[in-house]
Amino acid sequence: MISVIIDTLRESALRIDALLKHNTSSYLQSTNASGDMQLEIDVEADRIFQASLLELPCVKAICSEEQEDICYSQSTDAPYIVAYDPLDGSSLIDSNLSIGSIFGIYNGELKAQSLIASGYVVYGPCLEMVVAQERALHYRYIDEQWRNLGALELQAKGRINAPGGTQKHWEAKHKTMIESLFAQGYRLRYSGGMVPDLHQILIKGGGLFSYPATNDAPQGKLRKLFEVFPFAFVYEKCGGYATNGVQRILELEVEHIHESTPCFFGSYEEMELVRRVYE
Ligand code: F6P
Ligand code: MN
Repeated sequence: MISVIIDTLRESALRIDALLKHNTSSYLQSTNASGDMQLEIDVEADRIFQASLLELPCVKAICSEEQEDICYSQSTDAPYIVAYDPLDGSSLIDSNLSIGSIFGIYNGELKAQSLIASGYVVYGPCLEMVVAQERALHYRYIDEQWRNLGALELQAKGRINAPGGTQKHWEAKHKTMIESLFAQGYRLRYSGGMVPDLHQILIKGGGLFSYPATNDAPQGKLRKLFEVFPFAFVYEKCGGYATNGVQRILELEVEHIHESTPCFFGSYEEMELVRRVYE
């Protein structure tokens, strides 16, 4: 049944990729539940995922970053809820940088412990998808077919530092930690799109992505159900780890569907550093 959902997400990704290639999208007058300005294409991408997922007999509900509430299907006894961010990083569209879609498949309840598969799509120079179940498999769309390029695995230590949030609002200990990585020779790689930034770390073998608590955003910016839990699941399946600084991401509770959390994703050594600095 999970494979039916994944196939549907693949089909939706192809449709969204085609839309992006001909995109003339402009901002709407609306904002989403997190207060982000919505582009027409955010809403269109959301409709594509919603319509195709709600048709599946195994999907009980969907939960989108672009919608205030959970949306239930006719299949009230179905097991799965799919939570997704239809177009992550869409504010980068005007500068023609890579963007993505992120999804998590939850069994029965919307909580971290019920996540059974997750992944993301990268809309870049080529179309890619990572799907994590037992392992995180990397696919690329080539010659009208999804080709499996193999499982992604993180090395114990990487070389990339992707620090999110506004520096002037960082805590002193966070600033010191980020600077210590640069002092060790880590390279700055940050586009401002969660999908390409976290994907790059996985592809290049390791590093640290951080979006900490800041003075102006004590709960960080990235949302648990649509962004943080799905990536935490992917990273763990690649041999990495994800934490909010003091607790494993995949053990956090969820009180509200649009709730955000500080988050750190990376390979073993970088996550040891985060633990030492934050615990
Ligand atoms: O969805 C929120 C988002 O656009 C992510 O894709 C990205 O990682 C983050 O915001 C970037 O935020 P900032 O510009 O504050 O670093
Ligand atoms: Mn997003």
